[in-house]
Amino acid sequence: MTEFVVACRLADVPLNGAAHVDVNGTPIAVAHTAEGVFAIRDVCSHADVRLSEGEVDGCAIECWLHGSQFDLRTGSPMTLPAIVAVPVYEVRLSGEGDDTFVEVATTPTDLTVQPQTL
Ligand code: FES
Repeated sequence: MTEFVVACRLADVPLNGAAHVDVNGTPIAVAHTAEGVFAIRDVCSHADVRLSEGEVDGCAIECWLHGSQFDLRTGSPMTLPAIVAVPVYEVRLSGEGDDTFVEVATTPTDLTVQPQTL
């Protein structure tokens, strides 16, 4: 059974933006999109930089250093120079209103992640 931990408050992640969180020692980028909330390891597969410092565009996050985009649902690179997928994590939301929390799975999945919708 998948274990989840509270990563942050949803209000801490701007819509169409991302935030860096630490989940049991693993750096995670939580992305808040119109399609839902996603979690992807916060390390680009091309070099050791944070994806959370890049831009979120639809269901993609763009690495700020060389511009590779990664699909937030699968972690797959959509543009060069990155060619290796980044692990993604299942997300669920708990609470409501200002006390809505983002919970992130402690282990990655290589399956397409269904986003949590509000
Ligand atoms: S470091 Fe991310 S694309 Fe190069």
